[in-house]
Amino acid sequence: MPVMPPSGLTCLSLFCGGGGLDIGFEAAGFVHAACYEILPQVAGSLSLNRPSWAVYGGESGDVTRQIWGQFSGIDVMVGGPPCQPYSQAGQQHGKSDVRDMIPTYVQAIKAVSPAAFVLENVPALLHEKFRGHLDAELMRPLDGAYHLHVFTLDAAWFGVPQARRRAFIIGFRSRSHFDRFTKPRPTHRLPFAKPDLVTPPLFGEPADALPVCMGARQSLGLPEIGFDALAPTIRSGMTGPRYTTSVVSGQASQRRWTELQVWPHGVNRTRAGAQLFPTPNGYFRLSVPDCAVLQGFPGDWRFPSQAYLALGIIGNSVCPPVAYNLAKAIRRAFG
Ligand SMILES: C[S@@+](CC[C@H](N)C(=O)[O-])C[C@H]1O[C@@H](n2cnc3c(N)ncnc32)[C@H](O)[C@@H]1O
Repeated sequence: MPVMPPSGLTCLSLFCGGGGLDIGFEAAGFVHAACYEILPQVAGSLSLNRPSWAVYGGESGDVTRQIWGQFSGIDVMVGGPPCQPYSQAGQQHGKSDVRDMIPTYVQAIKAVSPAAFVLENVPALLHEKFRGHLDAELMRPLDGAYHLHVFTLDAAWFGVPQARRRAFIIGFRSRSHFDRFTKPRPTHRLPFAKPDLVTPPLFGEPADALPVCMGARQSLGLPEIGFDALAPTIRSGMTGPRYTTSVVSGQASQRRWTELQVWPHGVNRTRAGAQLFPTPNGYFRLSVPDCAVLQGFPGDWRFPSQAYLALGIIGNSVCPPVAYNLAKAIRRAFG
């Protein structure tokens, strides 16, 4: 992510987690006005990496308690409201889930009236099942005020060695910004002929000239075993009935880790620590820095010392290279 010169554009980040979206917007030349995150340790992790930013955590980071008027004039509001109400990994209770924060996010958009906003979530949010809810809570309240682009992006198109697709709704107040915006073009080709965990792109295959996205083993520097593939989607260590240090997101995910000969349970805090605990079958035990590589975080990004928390931040985040390419596309739209 080559750092771009300042754009003169500001962004306000809600539900910022550990900063996946924010890393991308920063590298694309945006200046953060403030970041809001309810979990103090997660907000603290962003502050640790960016001490000069205004990061609010705990009660003062709770987006349901803010009055947003002070931020009018902001260029872009970004946010990934919690995905559990929509995620296939969860119960998909949508609007009846108390964690449904889309109405709160929309209220904030209306209060701040940014020139553009980004709403990120799991692709399931765009499924038929939630159409009525999205219409009622986002499309209709913003109708007339924002022009919307709705699409999904695969992380591997931007060089991230993981099967991870996310949905984006981008709203522009001005029609000309909306017209100038084009969703980010892939920077990489998918690495394998039949990547069964990556569904086909919605807009043409990337050109052959693009570099090939690495597989998980290659990106981790593991020896050749005659097989490589994108890592399966890394789940958040903070999601589910108990906090966990496993990054397995389902049966297909477990099969892929097995094919990769990578052990995704008991993820260790450090690479050296992981080596101290050989796996039952000799597979490579993951560590937090390995998961950070598989999510596309910059090499010098620091994570909390508790592995489950670090994995929560990683597994909840927008892959920074995806955020970066999206931010560049928004920057281009502003001209
Ligand atoms: C999907 S994560 C966002 C990840 C982030 N976009 C990134 O790229 O790293 C959603 C975040 O919203 C936070 N959250 C949930 N309810 C919140 C609230 N009421 N106020 C602020 N943050 C909240 C969660 O703790 C979680 O970190």
